[in-house]
Amino acid sequence: MAQTYHKVGFIAFGQRGQQLAETLINYLPEYGCPAAVCDLRKNPVVSPLFSFRCPDIPYVTDYRELLAMPEIDSVIISTYEDMHVEIVKAAIEAGKAVYCEKPIVQTLEEAEELYRFVTNRPCQFQIGLNLPNFPVSLKLKELLDQKIIGDLVMIRSACDVGQDFARNFLINKFSGKRGNFITAKLTHDTDLLQYLCGSYAETVWGKTKNVMWRRHGEPPATDDTAFMAGELHNGVLFSQALTSCGNGYERKFHFFGTKGELLAEIHGDGVTLKPACGLSSTIPAPNLNGGGHNGADFVTLRGFFDYLDSGVMAPRHPERILSSVMIPMAAIRNELVQTGKWYRSVIERG
Ligand SMILES: NC(=O)c1ccc[n+]([C@@H]2O[C@H](COP(=O)([O-])OP(=O)(O)OC[C@H]3O[C@@H](n4cnc5c(N)ncnc54)[C@H](O)[C@@H]3O)[C@@H](O)[C@H]2O)c1
Repeated sequence: MAQTYHKVGFIAFGQRGQQLAETLINYLPEYGCPAAVCDLRKNPVVSPLFSFRCPDIPYVTDYRELLAMPEIDSVIISTYEDMHVEIVKAAIEAGKAVYCEKPIVQTLEEAEELYRFVTNRPCQFQIGLNLPNFPVSLKLKELLDQKIIGDLVMIRSACDVGQDFARNFLINKFSGKRGNFITAKLTHDTDLLQYLCGSYAETVWGKTKNVMWRRHGEPPATDDTAFMAGELHNGVLFSQALTSCGNGYERKFHFFGTKGELLAEIHGDGVTLKPACGLSSTIPAPNLNGGGHNGADFVTLRGFFDYLDSGVMAPRHPERILSSVMIPMAAIRNELVQTGKWYRSVIERG
């Protein structure tokens, strides 16, 4: 693998764009550097670190201007999902490698369009789904692949973002011009669930509603609570909940297998193993990396640059364009949805 020093263009420089730029500057400076910024806001306020490290970086307000810069070889897109398909296509057509944030699209039609686009041409494309790279997720994947609890039977998964996050995001952010909180959040959890099981949802039933988070006197801008259940293609049953009334931000996964149970809080530092014999032990999963999201941003970005340097001109995990959005989007419909039929039909048509 011939490694190159990457000149990275950031399309959108809000909280997420800046967090990833700082991860690149602090933890991956041998891999590349921020080389241009595009944001609709003319003068985005940046951190002292960013202005010290990138004093001469060009700022533009039209992404096409950034894509026309020949020195930029890769772009990190962190606009909201309403612009993803348009900007990803333009970036790939301009010859740039693309890292695009989740939720990758806003509808299933867009998922099909983007899947077809990236799989029908030589290109480098990856979604910024970082939850599988949390230390606990990496340990869970290792243990499940080893079949430490035998064959999987069922998964119970619950995400509660807590009241502080809910105020900050559900009211401040989503009540502004944002989209759907259910898809924005649960694309992470349901992508992880399917990834850990090496499968995809065959059927999904769900219900979502707004229970408590809205501006006084105004209709809700987005639902804040969800429950969904279904069956994976490999026969494993699952449930996934989303609430926002707890006292902290946590994601609890509980796996039941033919030889016992595995329990984990994804933001924690260990996995509890409960073999069927009745014993219980904790397997450590410490964070050994710096950077945001328990070190997952570092692992995810490093993986992206290694993929670019591999020279493989094919999208990375393009099927996750489909699978990462189809469960929460099915839940919003409040009926039984045959997600597996749709997933296979898109992949088979190619
Ligand atoms: N993977 C993760 O862990 C993670 C974490 C946080 C956010 N995100 C995702 O990142 C995205 C952005 O979230 P955020 O927290 O940075 O939001 P934000 O509101 O802080 O920033 C969004 C930025 O996008 C800019 N923007 C919008 N349209 C644009 C366009 N057409 N061209 C250029 N700039 C444009 C806005 O001016 C703003 O600065 C969301 O899709 C969110 O789901 C992912």
